Amino acid sequence: MKKLLLSLICCLPGYMVNAQESPLIIPTPAEYQKGKNSFLLSDKTAINFSEDLLQEEAHYLQKELLRKRQLPLVMEKAGHGNQNISLQIIPTIKEGYQLTISETNITISSATETGIFHGIISLVQLIEQAERGPSGLTLPTWQITDRPLYDWRGFMLDESRHFFGIEKVKSLLDWMAYYKLNKFHWHLTDAPGWRIEIKKYPKLALVGGIGNQTNPFSPAQYYTQEEIKEIVQYAAERKIEVIPEIDMPGHATAANKAYPEYSGGGSEKHPEFTFHPGKEATYQYLTNILKEVNVLFPSQMIHLGGDEVSFGNQKWKTDPEVQDLMNAENLTNLKEVEDYFMKRMADSLYSLNNQLLAWDEMAEAGLPTDKSILLWWRHDKPEQLQKLLKNDIQTIICPRIPFYFDFVQQEEDRFGRKWAGTFNPLERVYNFNEADLNVPANKKHLILGIQANLWTETVTDENRLDYLTFPRIAALAESAWTAPEHKDFENFSDRLKKHLTLYKDASLYFHNPFDPKLHPEPIMRTSLRK
Ligand code: ACM
Repeated sequence: MKKLLLSLICCLPGYMVNAQESPLIIPTPAEYQKGKNSFLLSDKTAINFSEDLLQEEAHYLQKELLRKRQLPLVMEKAGHGNQNISLQIIPTIKEGYQLTISETNITISSATETGIFHGIISLVQLIEQAERGPSGLTLPTWQITDRPLYDWRGFMLDESRHFFGIEKVKSLLDWMAYYKLNKFHWHLTDAPGWRIEIKKYPKLALVGGIGNQTNPFSPAQYYTQEEIKEIVQYAAERKIEVIPEIDMPGHATAANKAYPEYSGGGSEKHPEFTFHPGKEATYQYLTNILKEVNVLFPSQMIHLGGDEVSFGNQKWKTDPEVQDLMNAENLTNLKEVEDYFMKRMADSLYSLNNQLLAWDEMAEAGLPTDKSILLWWRHDKPEQLQKLLKNDIQTIICPRIPFYFDFVQQEEDRFGRKWAGTFNPLERVYNFNEADLNVPANKKHLILGIQANLWTETVTDENRLDYLTFPRIAALAESAWTAPEHKDFENFSDRLKKHLTLYKDASLYFHNPFDPKLHPEPIMRTSLRK
């Protein structure tokens, strides 16, 4: 059947099969054919859009063409104008988008605005690489049909350990959009700092926001609710959903600095690490926080953490109120207390019509499968992934190896992490293949997608953020979007070389896998004085 299709496509006028040539697009599209001709793009080209709801996408394309190629185009609600770029909704296109560049027109069609947006991104990438002639840019003709492998193509940024601020987050969202990533998991609370304003509990930001991983005395840094709204809107314009994480019942040190009455204690290494599971008031307090968070994030998903509680729940063993809870609820150990806590908070989230996200520690907590999504992160515990699947839980794949971007990408780097000598070079991120994970055939539908996580213990400045993120984010994108049978590391590397020049133009301090000395590993700066 494939052969037949191929020979049919070969015979379409104006298109020829050239197996060697792929479009300079990351992530690589599902199907493409290069034509023999070219389209001349100039400031006489207009952007047409078929219905009002595409005006936002048309405007995005308009802005990108001015920003990237100094081309000021007009836009107009109209049909398929000759010599123009036309955006059109075609309900019969099942998923993804089609991008046709012919000698006379450029057309992007999809059933959805999101599909149109992704078509625009592919077109922008081609236009960025197009040669400039005396009367405009020359674009080779292409017929591209594209769709994503996974619905969940995520990136997580930890801003508790170090805070980067609105401009850097917007820049990351730009690059996520450029690579068709669509879920921004924002780790906003953890032991070193609380980074989101909560009106009902102002000390969370004002006191909990003080300090970071390398300097416990740095002035409070956090996002106001107005700034959060701005980021969420910016992301939405790029078809990215923002999912906040409010970590509980562990990793709560910063919150407990602000409101110690809800602390469940900690350990010597992790002081005041937990919320108190034995006090009814804790559940009300956290529910009040989630009510405000819910209003700020229209994704209707909140990540409640649930990881590493045992780092600091020792006091629960002797606390009389926790003991009372255990007796009343028939809980026989601290893990059952954790699970009880999470189920209580899950109920609060469900009453807000939100889905709950949490780390894989919650695999056996008995959360309702239709409203929960768990993230498998412990690569050394493949059995956790199997438990998630066995319990019919929707799952996001983000194991430390290969998806923790705080891990170094080359042997000699000193500041990031390794796990028993293993780390995450570009190729390892690229070579991710779900087929290696023993997902039973009847459970494949539970895998929503993949995600990279940038924890920021060692990310003390933007240079280190860039260095750890670029170009691995491009490999992540291709692993998330492109079916494994269409991936090829050598071909990807060729396309990536062009993207490195874009990173340079954007003044990013990226790692260059082809010339690692170009940007040496930035040292981790610490302002902590003992
Ligand atoms: C995690 O890395 N603690 C989810």
